[in-house]
Amino acid sequence: FILIPIMAVVAYLLGSLSAAIIVSRYFGMDDPRTYGSGNPGASNMLRSGNKKAAALTLVGDALKGLIAVLLAKCLQSMFDLGDGIVAIAAIAAVVGHMWPLFFHFKGGKGVATALGVMLGMSFWTAAWAVAIWLFVATKFKKSSLAALIAAACAPFISFVVQGHHPKLSWALFLVAILVLYRHKENIQRLRSGNELHIGEAARPLK
Ligand code: G3P
Repeated sequence: FILIPIMAVVAYLLGSLSAAIIVSRYFGMDDPRTYGSGNPGASNMLRSGNKKAAALTLVGDALKGLIAVLLAKCLQSMFDLGDGIVAIAAIAAVVGHMWPLFFHFKGGKGVATALGVMLGMSFWTAAWAVAIWLFVATKFKKSSLAALIAAACAPFISFVVQGHHPKLSWALFLVAILVLYRHKENIQRLRSGNELHIGEAARPLK
């Protein structure tokens, strides 16, 4: 029983490793929290013009979600546990990304990390989410809109299409709520027509 809180802490700490901030420091770039949308995430890193840094951010943030869920799955099979430990790890990794212990609790919007946890749960749920993201992003050129729609669809894909255990689908539902909450400002900008396009050059934040 103690394994679940331990796993939650480990997943939270993994999630707290903000790839955007670490990659920016490595490349000697400005902190992504100071330009564009101010978000330490792959979309905003792309606005810096450094595609390699953006790709590394995407991979790094997804990887930590994937590792957290795979670790939970290992414990699940070693100790014959239910799906609760996987669900908790998924949520904790995303929470860590959004409110990271190591970076003054100023984290990102959780999209890449959510993708990583989906991938850990099920390849096909992640593949569906990526397909939806790509479709919306290609059509509207707004990564936030694509992320919101993909995140909102994921729990239903998990439950209805993939027939996963409700605990996993509930975890993805909670992740979607968190992603939605973290996109408050994007939603306002989408409504007022001021949302940045994918890759649009970043302006420094005042
Ligand atoms: O991955 C985050 C994305 O959905 C929105 O990012 O920088 O456009 O606010 P951004």
